[in-house]
Amino acid sequence: MVQLCGFLVSLAVFCHRTSSFSTLSSPLIQLAHKSHDKEYEAGVNIFGTSSGVAGWSDGNFTSSSVGVGNAGPDEYYLNGRGHNVCSTRDPVLSKSECESFIMEAQKAISTRKAVKVEVDPSRKDWEVTNSDLGEARLSGLPPDILNHLRGILDDKLYPMLESRFAVHNLTVYDGLILGSIAPSQSQPVHRDASLLTINIPLSDSAGYTGGGTYIEGFHEHDNPVVIERGHALCHASGVMHAGNAIQTGERWVLVLFCIAQDEPQIARRCHAGGLAAFHDDGDVDRAFQYFEAGLSVAPSDHLLHMGASRVHLARGEISASFKSLNAAANLYPLCQQANVALGDALMAKKRPRAALRRFDSALEAIGDRDLLDGAWMPLKALAWRTRVSAATCTLLCAEAEVEKITEDRGWSRSRLPEAIGRLSTALGPCPDNGYIQSMRARALELLRIAE
Ligand SMILES: *[C@@H]1O[C@H](CO)[C@@H](O)[C@H](O)[C@H]1NC(C)=O
Ligand SMILES: *[C@@H]1O[C@H](CO)[C@@H](O)[C@H](O)[C@H]1NC(C)=O
Repeated sequence: MVQLCGFLVSLAVFCHRTSSFSTLSSPLIQLAHKSHDKEYEAGVNIFGTSSGVAGWSDGNFTSSSVGVGNAGPDEYYLNGRGHNVCSTRDPVLSKSECESFIMEAQKAISTRKAVKVEVDPSRKDWEVTNSDLGEARLSGLPPDILNHLRGILDDKLYPMLESRFAVHNLTVYDGLILGSIAPSQSQPVHRDASLLTINIPLSDSAGYTGGGTYIEGFHEHDNPVVIERGHALCHASGVMHAGNAIQTGERWVLVLFCIAQDEPQIARRCHAGGLAAFHDDGDVDRAFQYFEAGLSVAPSDHLLHMGASRVHLARGEISASFKSLNAAANLYPLCQQANVALGDALMAKKRPRAALRRFDSALEAIGDRDLLDGAWMPLKALAWRTRVSAATCTLLCAEAEVEKITEDRGWSRSRLPEAIGRLSTALGPCPDNGYIQSMRARALELLRIAE
């Protein structure tokens, strides 16, 4: 632990030093400032701005924490409260307000579809798939609806955010009304582009099963967070989260993306810029400039380190890529993806013992959370394949030990039982998997030989 802290401190000091050179001069950072100012101005024009009205206190909310330091690169701005995820005890929208938002969204979506067909009848991409009823951007709704929403923001929602996160001068830069019909798919875990996110279910919970918001870092027992119609869930947009699938029925939610006048969110803008340069333009060097600019202001952001690791890998800079993945894994313990990626990379370099240490540490962090009823599917998948990879490493090492006839087989004796346990766990959801079965049989055999 002391070592880890030492590493983090030196990383932060190093990056801080770098930042004093680049912060003011980087054109990418200036670009980020400009897009923020534009977004803020546009938001204020449509959605107004917060004005410091009171009315909320702790008793109006239930809240839980994802842990200090796990709420993204803008957490520092949120006055020590950014790690809290809060939901209101009472509704902020009435039943009829919820119903009218759904109706307006349905109108907007069907008009848009009609327009698209008129423009190009061959385009089918607007068609409702089995899980997607579509989404309506708030900025495109009729003025009377926007005025009504602005009243709700002024009276309730801006003050709510001000009271929870001790921030001021907020606006909505955009928002969505999203509809889905069962069976839908869960979103991938992600951050929103805003500073603060408000999520309000508009559909009566009797009309669907499933749904809610998965919050990375909450215990599986508390996930996903499901709140009633008209209630509000609010959190730092940098908290990793995902909309959860519905199994039956139909569900609409209103999502509001809020930003603050004096927080330009340089790091997350640089991250988005880096991903776009990397994936859309294939411009690896530009992507790296973005990630570096982001890290110069947010040296502890694990997603920026993950981005940098991908660039290094694409350039063939293997050890730099390891370093970035290592930083990501240490900085954000709630997700084991970086650790597992490191294990994979070490396996590819034929270093099964080193890889096993990574898989071990990932599995230790996951514990049995993935085995609980209703556990998040991506966590189950990650844990499953990490157990199999760990067992593969153990087998490789044990096979090597067997080949050395004269040597002691203590390592195999001590590590194989755990690998056998992991393979048995992996067989749980797929008992007929021949590959895992044969691995387990070989592990049992190697253990007999070692004993
Ligand atoms: C907060 O709770 C108090 C006490 O229950 C209530 O009177 C008040 O209206 C609530 N505030 C809001 C904004 O809902
Ligand atoms: C920002 O918020 C503060 C506190 O609510 C207020 O006094 C100030 O006028 C606001 N600034 C602007 C530009 O709206």
